[in-house]
Amino acid sequence: MSHPAEIRIVSRRFDDDAAATLAGYRGSDGYRALEKALAMTPAAIIDEVKQSGLRGRGGAGFPTGMKWSFVPAQSPKPKYVLCNADESEPGTCKDRVILERDPFAVIEGMSICARAIGARQGYIFIRGEYRYLIEIVERALAEAYAAGLLGKNILGSDFEFHLAAHSGAGAYECGEESALMESLEGKRGFPRMKPPFPATSGLYGGPTVINNVETLASVPHILLGGGAWFAGFGPPKNGGTRLFCLSGHLNTPGVYELPLGFPLRRMIEELGGGLPGGRKLKAVVPGGSSTPILTAEEALSANMDFDSIAKLGSFLGSGGVVVADEHTCMVEFALRIMHFYRHESCGWCVPCREGTNWLELALRRFHSGGGRQEDIELFRSVSENILGRTFCPLGDAAAMPIISIVRKFRGEFEDHLRGRACPFGAVHGAEA
Ligand SMILES: Cc1cc2nc3c(=O)[nH]c(=O)nc-3n(C[C@H](O)[C@H](O)[C@H](O)COP(=O)(O)O)c2cc1C
Repeated sequence: MSHPAEIRIVSRRFDDDAAATLAGYRGSDGYRALEKALAMTPAAIIDEVKQSGLRGRGGAGFPTGMKWSFVPAQSPKPKYVLCNADESEPGTCKDRVILERDPFAVIEGMSICARAIGARQGYIFIRGEYRYLIEIVERALAEAYAAGLLGKNILGSDFEFHLAAHSGAGAYECGEESALMESLEGKRGFPRMKPPFPATSGLYGGPTVINNVETLASVPHILLGGGAWFAGFGPPKNGGTRLFCLSGHLNTPGVYELPLGFPLRRMIEELGGGLPGGRKLKAVVPGGSSTPILTAEEALSANMDFDSIAKLGSFLGSGGVVVADEHTCMVEFALRIMHFYRHESCGWCVPCREGTNWLELALRRFHSGGGRQEDIELFRSVSENILGRTFCPLGDAAAMPIISIVRKFRGEFEDHLRGRACPFGAVHGAEA
């Protein structure tokens, strides 16, 4: 069911049960974009994507057309297209809906990307816990092969593209693009040193484009509607719509597709149905657990596009909007976030492995009444010493929310020292 404020492009087939079958997908414009792409030059496809202003939906928001254009036209090694379906960032739950309801949109988007960069092989790397999605995706791949939409001479052309699904094994770190490639190659999912970047040296050392599920699912719509049409939905350099995952203290949480730049206040009040029990807003995570938190005041005046959220010192990230009401203990919030990152740190570099462990232990002690005044400063300085000092951005992802919580909600840390126990414990339950 769609909300009147939504603009449904990527989610347009979500209510159509038939869309997960090839016949249903083709009956709803499916594969018209690939047909169009096959009549275009690779450069023209990339230009269309550039014009759309599409920026990566996986977290970093890198311009997609530009990423594709970095792949060298000629390469002695095979080129690859990868779909990042590892979706593990807390607060984010959109990619699984796309793959469940509209898997062919991702397959078609990858095929168009392959045509644009000259790749013949692709992989969809699916989060291990999304076991049921593997079946859906593999069924879709088999249908596409049987219909000549994957393999050799696709749609009667000279285009050849092979695609396979691969299951992760439950590591958040394997969503980081270079760790994902290590994992796909059969190695332990540690991140790689960059540069070189995947566009020149990615999977098996070949030029590689890696994009998020939603990014790739947007591509057929862009090819059909035109880059300028898609760009028109958002502010300049923030093209299109995106799926926002609204969760936390809301009456009607869910995945909603909205134009970029949509006011966060309306997202909370209209789409999310406001806070239960008429409670007041305390804070909002704008783009998944790794993004610096916004105070209620910041959140209620924010517009949800990459550049507006960056001006507030945070990120639009992966589209996971988590709402916290006035009874939320922000010390416990920090503890829960750190519990996740400590557990998911791959252990490859010291600041991340040791820092997240220390922070979790100290936050737990602090939250349960054993805090010391000097801990507050230590939370900040340990986090700042992780920031920018790790191989991959998992360290930053752990540090940034804590730095913002200590800075913006310092009073709550002080309250825990005075009362020796969590002042909010009775409301939402105290232990992470
Ligand atoms: C620790 C970590 C986990 C990540 N997990 C994901 C993920 O699950 N899905 C995803 O699309 N991107 C994830 N990313 C971002 C990817 O490294 C990469 O930027 C993204 O797949 C690029 O696709 P896009 O340009 O379409 O956003 C993660 C990054 C880090 C540092």
